[in-house]
Order: sequence, then C-alpha cells, then structure tokens
Amino acid sequence: MIEVRHSPVHGYGVFALRRIRKGTTVIEYLGDRISHEEADERYSDKDAKDNHTFLFTVDAKTVIDAGRNGNEARFINHGCDPNCESGIMTKRVFIEAIRTIQPGEELVYDYQIQRDPDDPDDVDEIFACRCGAASCRGSMLEPKKQRRGKSGARKRQAKRRAGADDRRAKAKRDASTRRNAGTRRNAGTRRNAGTRRNAGTRRRAGVKRARPGRPSPRARR
Ligand SMILES: C[S@@+](CC[C@H](N)C(=O)[O-])C[C@H]1O[C@@H](n2cnc3c(N)ncnc32)[C@H](O)[C@@H]1O
Ligand SMILES: [Zn+2]
Repeated sequence: MIEVRHSPVHGYGVFALRRIRKGTTVIEYLGDRISHEEADERYSDKDAKDNHTFLFTVDAKTVIDAGRNGNEARFINHGCDPNCESGIMTKRVFIEAIRTIQPGEELVYDYQIQRDPDDPDDVDEIFACRCGAASCRGSMLEPKKQRRGKSGARKRQAKRRAGADDRRAKAKRDASTRRNAGTRRNAGTRRNAGTRRNAGTRRRAGVKRARPGRPSPRARR
C-alpha cells in the first residue's frame, strides 16, 4: 500500500503505491514503548534547535520511540492540510486515511506538536513547516491558543455585556427579588488552567490525540 522514499517536504516520506480509500487504517506506529522519563533520558543530549523526532505520545505514561524498533510509520511527515490522521486505540497508535489518497501522493498527518510555556521565542522557526500546502500554518506545532485579551469581537462582546450589566443593575434597583448576576458564575468552579497539564509530564500529558513528542532522536533507517 505504501513505500518510503525521499520527500520534497523533509528527508524520507511515505507515499501511496495505490489508491487508499478514506477510512483505511494504513499502518500502526511502532517502536519501543517507553516512559516519558526514559524518552527524556534517551535524548537528553539533543540540541534544542533540532526539531527532528521519532517520538510519539500515547498518553501521560507512555511514549513510542520509533527511532528504535520502529517501522515505516516513522517516516510519515507532517502536513497542515493532511490526508491522514493519527489515532489511539487501546494504547496503540494507528495512522488512518481521512480522505482518498491517490497513487504517488505523500501521506501526511498534522503533528500538532504541543506548545510549552517555556518555549523559546523562535520555537515556530525551529519547528517551521515545509509541507507546501496552500493552507500551511508555517509550523508543526499546534496552533497558538487564542489570547485572552480583549480585541475585536471580544471588545464588542464586553461592550454588550457592560450594557446588559447596566440594564441588570437598573432592574435590580427596580426589583430587589431579581437574581443577582454575580451568582451565575461561581469562581470556585472555573476551570483551572493549571490542572490541564501536569508539569511532571510536560508536553505529553493528557493529550487526546496522538502526536509526536519532543525532544527528538536523530535515528535514521
Ligand atoms: C517522524 S519524522 C518524519 C520522517 C522524516 N522526514 C525523516 O526522514 O526522518 C519527523 C521529523 O521530520 C521532519 N518533518 C516532518 N514533517 C515536516 C514538515 N512538514 N516540515 C518540516 N520538517 C518536517 C521534522 O524534523 C520532524 O521532527
Ligand atoms: Zn505546513
């Protein structure tokens, strides 16, 4: 179904030998199954500017290191307009076609490599994407989270809310039995950003979809 050969995107890539129908499970991502600690140890001497990785996050406990005992799946490059997707089933990672792929087409999936609070300013340059898609976002990293600052639509929404608050305040003055807007949101129940990521499992904790981890090995076939 597939072959590994040089890719215009980067190094080796994986190409379709025949038409692959949408929904086909193309290949399992294989390699050593190790802990995050071991992955860090294995590649502790890696240059911070080296973006090359064969590591793949399974969950907060396990990483697949396809640099050792890996198969062809480790050569599937990242693409911003992907024809494949990675998925985890019973702690195993599979690459599936998300649209029909023609013979000769390179297989790509969106790595969405996780961002870290301590990423250097030039992290998007380090992880620059060369997929060549018209919709290329320029980076193999996951898209940046929306900033919480007030701009554009958020400003307009805030203005509408302020108007609503004024009206509510007036209504409250008018009818003391009306529900206080402040009770609609309990600060204690607000989602705490800190719980979304465990510092001990940085970059890899709690990911819902499979994606390569960092740092990276430099292993080659
Ligand atoms: C799993 S390997 C893919 C195989 C790789 N082409 C090779 O020959 O070893 C992942 C690495 O390939 C490179 N890579 C994959 N997709 C890329 C892209 N769209 N743009 C730039 N580099 C890419 C990055 O160095 C990335 O860490
Ligand atoms: Zn791209």
